[in-house]
This record gives sequence, structure tokens and C-alpha cells, in this order.
Amino acid sequence: MKTKLITLIAMLLCGANIYAQDHKILVVYFSWSGNTQHVAEYIAEKTGGTLFRIEPAKPYPTEYKPCTEVAKKEKETDARPAIKNKVDGWDGYDTVFVGCPVWWWTAPMIINTFTESYDFKGKTVIPFCTYAATYRDETLAKIVELTPDAKHLKGFGAVDRNTKGITEWLKEIKMLKN
Ligand SMILES: Cc1cc2nc3c(=O)[nH]c(=O)nc-3n(C[C@H](O)[C@H](O)[C@H](O)COP(=O)(O)O)c2cc1C
Repeated sequence: MKTKLITLIAMLLCGANIYAQDHKILVVYFSWSGNTQHVAEYIAEKTGGTLFRIEPAKPYPTEYKPCTEVAKKEKETDARPAIKNKVDGWDGYDTVFVGCPVWWWTAPMIINTFTESYDFKGKTVIPFCTYAATYRDETLAKIVELTPDAKHLKGFGAVDRNTKGITEWLKEIKMLKN
């Protein structure tokens, strides 16, 4: 009886961690200037997830202004920019973090390409984004909208590459590993 009680208490105390360990986690992200990559790496480290960086087949301009112009055109034309790489063993993951920068008030169009390329049935999607100042909630909502077949957990938006609050968020959604 005593042993059972101790086990139960230990399970309750470790509750936040049991969940993360029971899941096979993929951390998918697109990043142009490195902020989302930084946040994705932080999430992967805290959850034990596997990282997957979405690589555009045609790289975006490295200069800011030309990049904004390409991104704007992609948005206006509802483009589906091609992706160069593929997730290995997609079916083996049950939980997928999907992250991106806010581009022109929403997710970059390459996120549409990604979400349309994989079957999200039976997956749990957790959106995250990085942004300078605006459209965090709209971008998180966009990722949810793009993955209608998945279940969703609460997302997170980081300003630039600030990781403050991420550990608490992962704990809240029970994705923090031991
Ligand atoms: C094309 C483009 C559009 C952007 N649009 C927005 C925006 O609407 N709102 C915002 O707060 N930040 C915007 N930003 C800033 C980025 O969201 C922010 O710097 C982000 O952290 C960059 O992530 P990355 O380094 O992973 O590319 C934009 C940046 C670019 C390049």
C-alpha cells in the first residue's frame, strides 16, 4: 500500500514529464534569419524532439528588402514555394511542433506547402512563431487552420529569438521532458 502511494505521488509530481516521454516529437520550422531556428532548437532541447528545418528549393534573397518583396508576392499570388527536403519517418511522430516567423501578418506561404505535403490525421500539432511586434495570434491561428485534421495544443509566440516563457509554456502543455 505504502509503495503504491509513493509511486502515485511520484507520478503526480512528474506528471508534466510523463506526457513528453510518451510521445514521439517532431519540431518542424522555417526560418529565414535564424530567430525561429533558435527557438525551435530550444523547444527540441526541452522536449527531446527531433528537428526538421524546412528548406526552400529556391532560397530567399539574403537581403531584407528583396526578401520582403518575394514574400509579399508569394502571399498575393497564394503561392506554394517548393520545399527541397522531406521528413524521414513522418508516420512515427505523433506530436508535431510547427513554427515560422510572421511574414506579412501571417505564416510564410512555404508553411502551406509543408502542411499540404503531409497527412496530419491522428497527430497533435503545436504552433509556434517568432515576430518583431505584430500578428502573433493570427500566425498561430493560421498554423491551426492549415492543419484541420490534427488535434491542437496551445501555441507560443516569441519576440525575435527571446526564449523567455517557453519552459513554462511547455510545462503547461505537458511537453517538458525530464
Ligand atoms: C518578409 C518579412 C515579413 C515580416 N512581417 C512581419 C509582420 O507582419 N509582423 C512582425 O511582427 N514581424 C514581421 N517580420 C519580422 C519577423 O517576423 C521576425 O524578425 C522573425 O523573428 C524572423 O524570424 P526568422 O529569423 O526565423 O526568419 C517580417 C520579416 C520579414 C522578412
